[in-house]
Amino acid sequence: MSKVLVAYFSKTGEQYSVGNITEGNTAIVAKIIAQKTGGDLFEIKAADDNYPNKYTPLVKFAKEEKQKNVRPEIVGKVANWADYDTIFVGYPNWWADMPMPVYTFLESYDFSGKKIYNFCTHEGSGGVHNNDFAMYGHVAQNDREKADRQVSEWLRDLDY
Ligand SMILES: Cc1cc2nc3c(=O)[nH]c(=O)nc-3n(C[C@H](O)[C@H](O)[C@H](O)COP(=O)(O)O)c2cc1C
Repeated sequence: MSKVLVAYFSKTGEQYSVGNITEGNTAIVAKIIAQKTGGDLFEIKAADDNYPNKYTPLVKFAKEEKQKNVRPEIVGKVANWADYDTIFVGYPNWWADMPMPVYTFLESYDFSGKKIYNFCTHEGSGGVHNNDFAMYGHVAQNDREKADRQVSEWLRDLDY
């Protein structure tokens, strides 16, 4: 039996094209994937969460973090990491890159022998780092049926 982990970073608050959201766009996609694969969810969250809730300050903050190439400490650890043979990693496109806590996550675990798939939400420039799957954030947020269908098609291609 394959054991699946769906790790994701996602931001609530004011986001591009969707207004003020209480569930992040990537979180929505992550939950659909977890539901369809029977996977466990792990939220990648900065320990010192200073990300502004307003879009413009957030964009500025994220740019500075990227320029400094920081590795923010993240909250918690994945329990029973060794048991997972498949890891989905999801994040929003931030400045054509991943939020820096996702780098912390990727550098904190040994992925050898595991299947890794990544997914991304974005608002026009698509995926980053050769994403396996990318979805418009506003589709995830406002059209669950379409989001569900797109995830299903992707998972079918992966033989889930
Ligand atoms: C700091 C920041 C930078 C972004 N940069 C890009 C970008 O370069 N290209 C793009 O298509 N969307 C960009 N976006 C839009 C997000 O990728 C999109 O809104 C995403 O769905 C947000 O997901 P979340 O709610 O899970 O955090 C950016 C958003 C933020 C906050």
